[in-house]
Amino acid sequence: MGYKTKEWRNSMRVTVDYNNMMSKFLGEQGIRDSQLREVKGQAEAAYRYVAENRGKDELYMGWTELPYNQDAIVADILATAKEVRKKFKYFVVLGIGGSALGPSMVFNALCHLRYNELPNNKRKGPKFYVEDNVDPVRMAALLDVIEPDKTCFNVISKSGATSETMTQYLIIADVLQKAGVDLAENLIFTTDACRGNLIKIDNSLGGKVKKYILPDGVGGRFSELCPVGLLPAAVLGIDIKGLLAGAAYMDSLCSKPTVSHNPALACSVLQYITMKQGKNIHVLMPYSDNLKLIADWYCQLWAESLGKAKDYDGNTVNAGTTPVKSLGVTDQHSQVQLYIEGPYDKVITFISVGQYGCEMPIPHGCEDIPDVGFLGGHTMQELIQAENKATAYALMRAGRMNYTVNMPEINAFTLGQLMFMLELQTAYAGAMLNIDTYNQPGVENGKKATFALLGKKGYEGQKREMDSAPELDSKYIV
Ligand code: PA5
Repeated sequence: MGYKTKEWRNSMRVTVDYNNMMSKFLGEQGIRDSQLREVKGQAEAAYRYVAENRGKDELYMGWTELPYNQDAIVADILATAKEVRKKFKYFVVLGIGGSALGPSMVFNALCHLRYNELPNNKRKGPKFYVEDNVDPVRMAALLDVIEPDKTCFNVISKSGATSETMTQYLIIADVLQKAGVDLAENLIFTTDACRGNLIKIDNSLGGKVKKYILPDGVGGRFSELCPVGLLPAAVLGIDIKGLLAGAAYMDSLCSKPTVSHNPALACSVLQYITMKQGKNIHVLMPYSDNLKLIADWYCQLWAESLGKAKDYDGNTVNAGTTPVKSLGVTDQHSQVQLYIEGPYDKVITFISVGQYGCEMPIPHGCEDIPDVGFLGGHTMQELIQAENKATAYALMRAGRMNYTVNMPEINAFTLGQLMFMLELQTAYAGAMLNIDTYNQPGVENGKKATFALLGKKGYEGQKREMDSAPELDSKYIV
């Protein structure tokens, strides 16, 4: 691996500490070594399933190879990003689900927390927005702050048939046309190689729109390390080679079939054991504002991948645990009370940071008020880290399972590791549950119902079925 030195890479290694899951610390509430041994066979089988099917498009496992097979694409993306930075004042992602959560998460993690408010000379790229939802107020707000003719719109949709994304597209295309802009100049499409509707739209625009391919074997929620995420990140000046190098590094750390030598497998085994014990809430709690959106991204990855009715043998399993997003320390003042004293139905995953982007000393003051005076002379980094440790300790003392993912610092390399670890963890967990990690039949049903309600051709049967549902009973409306 040619990214920085070996020493540097090792100093940036992301690790998992799961002591607070184990009976040694939690007593009766904890996992015993014998329980780890009991699922050893299943863990090894899950590891083998993922290892043997790496890169297989037909199984949607193309994401495993993204750290290795994109040199030409990365070079192209970097060249495009340079042009975009020169030409545009704003960069807007139109997309939803995997196409929106990843770009938002990486932006939040690796850019200035007040990026769009910075003066132009302090920003590496154009102002950045991700549309995501189809709340009309959100679209109106976007149109209030951008100048459409000076905006590059990156439409990201594998199918080009997602109602939300295509609604965003139709509105923006209309705005651009009315402003007399040549659409192809201000659009970039990230989509399926040949099947998606965006290809048809591009053809109707003379084939002039710049396009990036969302590879066949990469599903939306596993797509952040392909052009879906790499282009927006590159436009922002983020080190995309570092993201990919981090993912490859984590892949190498997960190359053994044992819990003690594979952090992603360790996390999936812990989740699997606790899932079987009925602990079906899984909280992700980063202690960092930069990592706040990793919890949103991960919630989709975990929920959409593992929430499945049937297993591969056709059994009804209704698998999955409910992921919950939380932020340290903010949620110490809201949710943590429940985590410590409420039902024993949760596992908390902390993400801790070794070195924050800045220290921020706390000045001395109010020394005659002991509740305040003791803070002076410390730093905000010391405070947030102490609160993180203290919360993990309090949970442990209360017999509540928690483990910590340690990030030495937040940079492209460590974020790449974290993303790849969470993707692998999800893949292993799906394999242990014997379910299809990569489909989303439940979401598809919701999409079809929306089509029917809006009168899309071909969905008349679904509409009739929906119309035949019982009339609303006014006694249940208060
Ligand atoms: O993970 C997934 O596959 C979904 O969340 C998709 O990303 C989302 O539904 C958007 O689909 P598309 O890329 O076809 O617009």
